[in-house]
Order: sequence, then C-alpha cells, then structure tokens
Amino acid sequence: MTRFFFRLDATDGRARTGAIDTPRGTIRTPAFMPVGTAATVKGMMPESVAETGADILLGNTYHLMLRPGAERIERLGGLHRFMNWDGPILTDSGGFQVMSLSDLRKLTEDGVTFKSHIDGSKHFLSPERSMEIQRQLGSDIVMAFDECPALPAPRERVAASMRMSMRWAARSREAFGDRPGHALFGIQQGGLEADLREESAAALKEIGFDGYAVGGLAVGEGQEAMFACLDHAPETLPREAPRYLMGVGKPDDIVGAVKRGIDMMDCVLPSRSGRTGQAWTRRGQVNLKNARHMDDPRPLDEACTCPCCRNYSRAYLHHVHRAGEMIAGMLLTWHNLHYYQELMSGLRAAIAGGRFAAFEAAFHAERAEGDI
Ligand code: GUN
Ligand code: ZN
Repeated sequence: MTRFFFRLDATDGRARTGAIDTPRGTIRTPAFMPVGTAATVKGMMPESVAETGADILLGNTYHLMLRPGAERIERLGGLHRFMNWDGPILTDSGGFQVMSLSDLRKLTEDGVTFKSHIDGSKHFLSPERSMEIQRQLGSDIVMAFDECPALPAPRERVAASMRMSMRWAARSREAFGDRPGHALFGIQQGGLEADLREESAAALKEIGFDGYAVGGLAVGEGQEAMFACLDHAPETLPREAPRYLMGVGKPDDIVGAVKRGIDMMDCVLPSRSGRTGQAWTRRGQVNLKNARHMDDPRPLDEACTCPCCRNYSRAYLHHVHRAGEMIAGMLLTWHNLHYYQELMSGLRAAIAGGRFAAFEAAFHAERAEGDI
C-alpha cells in the first residue's frame, strides 16, 4: 500500500511547494481544502468540487458524530463512499467545534461532555473517542484531539490549555496506533506567545506525528497578530513534514500564510460567503446583492474561467440571489472555490519558479485597483 509521504519540491524564502502522496491520491501543496462539514461541500456536487482543482476535502468529527452518527457512516462503507468523494479527506477532531458550537460544555482532563447544538442530546468526546470516530469515518488525515481558548485570553489560561492539549496529543497518538496509509497530525497551540508555541512544538515533536497543524489562530486576534505569530510558529515545526494552518482564511491571509511556510489550509469562507451573495475575485470582494449589478450584463469576472463566469451575468446572479433561488449559492460557491484553487495553483507555480515576491506584489496590486 502507498504510504503517506510528503515531498518538498521547491522553496522560495520560507514558502514551500511540494506534494503529499496518499493511497487516495496526491495533494499538491500549498493546498486549500474546501470544507465539507456535514458530508457535503454545501451547494456543490463532489465532482464539481474536484473540477475546481481541490485535491482534498475537510470533514468534521463533531457534526458527523451528531448527525448521522459515525457508526452509521461506518456501516454504510465510510465517509468517502457515503458522500461520493474518493480523494483524500482530512477530518478535524471535534474539540474546537465543541467549544464554538455546542451548548453546556464540561471540560475535564479526561475529555469534554457537551450537549448537541442540534437536539440537545448529551455526548462525550476525548482523544480516544475522537480517534475511534475518525477511524469509523475512514478519514485519511486524522487530527489529534485538542482544545483552544478564544483570544484574547490571559497567558496562564493559554498555557494551561496548551499543556492539556499536548497531553491529549500523546493520548491521541497512543489511541491512533499504527494505521498504514493513514496519517495523524498533531496540533500546536500556545496562542500568540512565542515561548508557548515553542514548548508546544517540542511536545509534539517528542510524540512524533505525520504532519503538524498550527491551531488556535484566526480566533479573533486579527491578521497582523496572526502574521506576527506565523513569523515564528511554522519554523518551530519539522521542515520535512506538512504544516497545516487551521481555519484560514481570506485570500490575503492565505498568501501571507504561504509566504511564512504553511503548506495546507481550510476555511468555510469561499463556500459560506457564496451562499450570502459574496464573491471573491482577483480584484477583491464583490457583493452581488448590491443594486449596481441589477442591469449589468457582464460576468462576475471576465478573466475567470469557471462555469459561473463563463455562462451567467451579474444581473442574473443578482436576480437569483434576491429571489432566494438555490442556483445563486451554487454558482457563487463554484466561482469562489475556483478562485481559491486558482490562487493556490498560482502560488505553487510562483514558488516553483522562484518568483513568489513578484506574485505577491501582483496579487496586492490587482486588488488595489479597486472595485471590479
Ligand atoms: N480549526 C481552527 N482552529 C482550530 C484549532 O485550533 N484546533 C482544531 N482542532 N480545529 C481548528
Ligand atoms: Zn468565476
């Protein structure tokens, strides 16, 4: 069986490009992972998601354990077959979503008890249970079970939480065991404190993982603080393993993160904002709800080759959004995911060609030209 393998092809400054080989296919890095929380990238058929250029999807332990249940998905042949996506899937471990979504949580060293945001039923997650659920789902890249406070938080809270997440990381590693062809990623915590990030990286390296995530960012600290942290955090993680920045971000966050040595990212933004009439383009954000589009026969972006831009006018997108038609979210999600994947492909080519700085300058210059 193909082993999980990360190959670095080129670097430019701290930016890296390469590929992760998995038994279900190759993930070109830097990679953007569309979010398929509830076993679907909302509004998209899986084959359409693949057409946008995505190599891997993200799924969520928290949502799937609550509905339809991990045991049920296992009986039905696993998440890949269930949702008709045969490429790699990375699953988040649940702790982060419990803290942001569930009601009534009780956190102890053992794990977290919580009430479902869907029906109020009571559940328990721990490192051991999260590893079991992610195995039942058939996840290719399993995330360690962690916890993280919203920022700003007092240093002592950030430190105590990080240390518990590191004990949970060791329990995750132990419970995951040896599963050829599947990978386990550790998650660095430590908020914005450089020494806590270092302590966390040392703990994770001691345990040993197939990849390392930078967690606990994009939780209210702002881009400047996040970049300041990323000036340091990725370098504390092994050079020869993939580095995954969780929950990021806007296109300019992505460019800045890749510049600082990040290989993988995920975010609901392109899919979620598609459903609220927001488009992301090389010239910045466009709000299709705006009345200025009502009579506009032009495509959203005349330079974009996605089905939305090839076949539909802004006037149409404005109309179907206003009318609450499903196709509005479908077309804009397709465009947004296509734009994100074009951005990743541009970043990969720029790093491979040793012209990251020029790419970054052109990226910002095009956005500065103003409203598209
Ligand atoms: N998604 C965004 N940030 C995080 C994090 O810190 N941990 C986990 N598990 N998921 C995340
Ligand atoms: Zn488009």
